[in-house]
Amino acid sequence: MINVILKSVAAGLMMLPVFPCASVMSESATPKIVPGEVWKDVAGDTINAHGGCVLFSEGKYYWYGEHRAAVRPVPQEGVTVYSSPNLVDWTYEGLALKASEKAGDDIEKGCIFERPKVIYNPRTGKYVMWFHLELKGQGYGAARCAVAVSDSPAGPFSFVKSGRVNAGKMPLNLSKENASVRAGEKMEWWTPEWRSEIEKGMFTLRDLDGGQMSRDMTLFVDDDGKAYHIYSSEDNLTLQIAELTDDYLDHSGRYIRIFPGGHNEAPALMKYDGKYWMIASGCTGWEPNEARLMVAESMMGEWTRLPNPCVGENAEKTFLGQSNYILKVEGKENAYIAMFDRWNPKSLMDSRYLWLPVQLNGGAVSVAWIPEWSPSTWW
Ligand code: GAL
Repeated sequence: MINVILKSVAAGLMMLPVFPCASVMSESATPKIVPGEVWKDVAGDTINAHGGCVLFSEGKYYWYGEHRAAVRPVPQEGVTVYSSPNLVDWTYEGLALKASEKAGDDIEKGCIFERPKVIYNPRTGKYVMWFHLELKGQGYGAARCAVAVSDSPAGPFSFVKSGRVNAGKMPLNLSKENASVRAGEKMEWWTPEWRSEIEKGMFTLRDLDGGQMSRDMTLFVDDDGKAYHIYSSEDNLTLQIAELTDDYLDHSGRYIRIFPGGHNEAPALMKYDGKYWMIASGCTGWEPNEARLMVAESMMGEWTRLPNPCVGENAEKTFLGQSNYILKVEGKENAYIAMFDRWNPKSLMDSRYLWLPVQLNGGAVSVAWIPEWSPSTWW
């Protein structure tokens, strides 16, 4: 009820030019996105939704993200959610998924929630959240993915389970006959011999029984309703694409490895011109590096690497950010926004959002730096 009142007050305030949202404090009344600036919600609080995603549902956009504290090691509260009619003015809806207060729970306070992604399943009527989970006190060692569900886009989501991926299952594009026989062996990294073993799935086989590692991740729903989990696996060396079951709550067992040893993370996907496009980063932690673009004719097919899609100031360092999600603008054809995070490891809460329109020219995909722009007039 309070939420409803706040929302209508916010909707009224949005009409005023003096509205206290940093992103709309421009001369013009057109709500603007200013990449890299502090982005305030309609209540005037800084938006705290990092590494997240945006889902359009029931006439509104929902932005989910990692809650981050100003300083470490203050624990994360969980996954936050904001709603907006126009992708610029956001209302805080609360914690979509809350860290548990119970010792021993997978999502016990003190665990790490990263890169939450939410998709809607029309077959079950459920909103399904997947995220990268690291268990309390284990650093980044657990390398798990986790699932939560809700009947409503704003939550609350209930935690379902967490674990590694597809235990006991071989990837579709690696046969046991051609696979490495050195699973689990200690080898010096980056030597040609090691690289060849990585390509032959040395780490895939090492993790076969317990399941594949899953760190940076995203979800993608295809036009036929099939959903995919795309994640950095095998010690972040190799991306894997795993098909989800029809209810989106599990893996179907079918998965592929792409760019083995390519050291890709932060995957973000879109479909355009009948092809699948992925922007990813290299693995340098919170530090920015050059973005990578990949393309494929089918999700579970052959992926090809293309040059850096970023153009303009700091393009060789992804505008000092890291890819995270590509959102489809509702009701417009071929309108996509690439979401990047400009991490601030000293205060993760103060990490900034870089949202930029994806430029599509004659079947090519690029993202140019634009100091400010408006989703309502761009397309
Ligand atoms: C990055 C990753 C982030 C976070 C960070 C921790 O490589 O993309 O999501 O996991 O490492 O250092």
